Amino acid sequence: MAAEQSVGLLDSAFYQPANTFFPAQAGLALTYDDLTLSTLYSDILPRNASLDTELAGGLRLHLPVISADMDTVTESRMAIGMAINGGLGLIHYNMPEKQQLKEVSRVKNHVHGLIQEPITVAPDKSVGDVIELIETKRYSFSTFPVVGDDRKLVGLLSGNVLKPRYAAKQVTSALVPRDQVQTILESQLGADPIAIADQFFTDHPGINKLLVVDDNDELHGLFTLSDIERITTEKLSQFRPARDNHFRLLCGAAVSTPRNDDGELDRERIVTHIGALIERGADVIAVSTAHGHSKGVGDAVALIREAYSDLPLIAGNVTTAAGVDYLADKGANIIKIGQGPGSICTTRLVAGVGIPQMTALYVASQAAKARGVSLLADGGITKSGDIVKALTLADGVICGGLLAGCPETPGQVMEISGKLYKQYRGMGSLAAMKSGSAARYGHALREANRKVAAEGIEALKEVSENLDQLLAQLIGGVQAGMGYLGAATLPDLRTKARYTRISPAGQKEAAPHDVVEMKASS
Ligand code: XMP
Repeated sequence: MAAEQSVGLLDSAFYQPANTFFPAQAGLALTYDDLTLSTLYSDILPRNASLDTELAGGLRLHLPVISADMDTVTESRMAIGMAINGGLGLIHYNMPEKQQLKEVSRVKNHVHGLIQEPITVAPDKSVGDVIELIETKRYSFSTFPVVGDDRKLVGLLSGNVLKPRYAAKQVTSALVPRDQVQTILESQLGADPIAIADQFFTDHPGINKLLVVDDNDELHGLFTLSDIERITTEKLSQFRPARDNHFRLLCGAAVSTPRNDDGELDRERIVTHIGALIERGADVIAVSTAHGHSKGVGDAVALIREAYSDLPLIAGNVTTAAGVDYLADKGANIIKIGQGPGSICTTRLVAGVGIPQMTALYVASQAAKARGVSLLADGGITKSGDIVKALTLADGVICGGLLAGCPETPGQVMEISGKLYKQYRGMGSLAAMKSGSAARYGHALREANRKVAAEGIEALKEVSENLDQLLAQLIGGVQAGMGYLGAATLPDLRTKARYTRISPAGQKEAAPHDVVEMKASS
């Protein structure tokens, strides 16, 4: 008994719970790589650890990861991928308001497995034109519906004929003609289109494309056998898509807080645009700024809360308990923590402010607990281990750079010296501010066209694997962390976490060392 007690005392002297560990470090701000978590007795299998998180009443994710509202990270394609994997995408606002509404609709109307806007080719093109299109756009597929000017279906161009020997032929002479193409009427899809498509492919051996048309024979979508097979297998998996009560994918949108010429918040424009976003089905709205503990942001949050009393509302960014308290007072229920940790951020260099993430999260979490609001750790996450550490204090994480190389982000792939890259830029970079995000950094748009101090850079990310594969790696890492702590759920992880600081030599020890690395782990 005495021996057991002293073993316990020894551990607790070195590996401390948050409420002992962080106050003991007051005066020295820590981030992810400054500390590590100690293991605890475990009786759970990592693959059974649940990553469910409830961010606000009615806003429940199965994966506590959110893609950042940045113009090189989240538009509809990324938001669809995030929600399919149980997380959430926040559509950025560096685009006309009408366009943002369309992006939200794309997510909310997305039927997983049905490609709703398939890439088509015109009948008067040549096979060579189509081969060139595939090369320049780097399409990973090679079957195209052929659609005339009147939008009616003319046939299907199969990948089998996309060979240089047929390059000179017209698409019309190489396609499978309309009467031999398998189609289904949109009105016949019913409540479970995937089940209908699944049955169709079972009933038609050898067919691997099913086109959706309307009564006018205009094209409205495309099912492929491989997608349907992947989905039916996924149905058995633990990570379900994040959906609303109507079985639609969840989607969030960030909003700007425009002002009138007299400097007052443009109440009508803000309320009208958010109303339109909600009408399109947006599940959560984010007021994203660099300084959330400010009158302008507080006023904007309060006016949104007054207009939409039940809306899940994200606001930020702050790094203090007073900041959390202030935004909670104004009506935010989810608060973003992070000032300057982002991979493209220069706020700490330019303005000399900002707090390393783990200390900021601990301080904020004390206020969040008292106010009953959730926290999102925003920025600075570069690996799954950082997510585990963040989730010991927060309810979810926001990632920009970690996802920015995925094919699902907006923007073209570019090739430099044989390597493929995608653009990734800070929303406080001059280029992004000129495209609309200046208000986020406290500048008027017209100022952004003059000289203002940028707080972000324009960068490149090497093209990574696709989002599904990347998230599978992250999920595996987070579940491994939970397994080491014996945490079956995220609330368990928060209670069980025990921290210790690590020395520079300890940090070196944590990464592969003293070997010649042959294959980098992902
Ligand atoms: P990561 O590290 O995931 O960070 O790339 C993404 C987060 O960084 C914030 N952000 C910025 N912060 N200047 C800043 O100081 C910027 O230009 C900038 N752009 C984005 C934002 O919170 C995002 O989620």
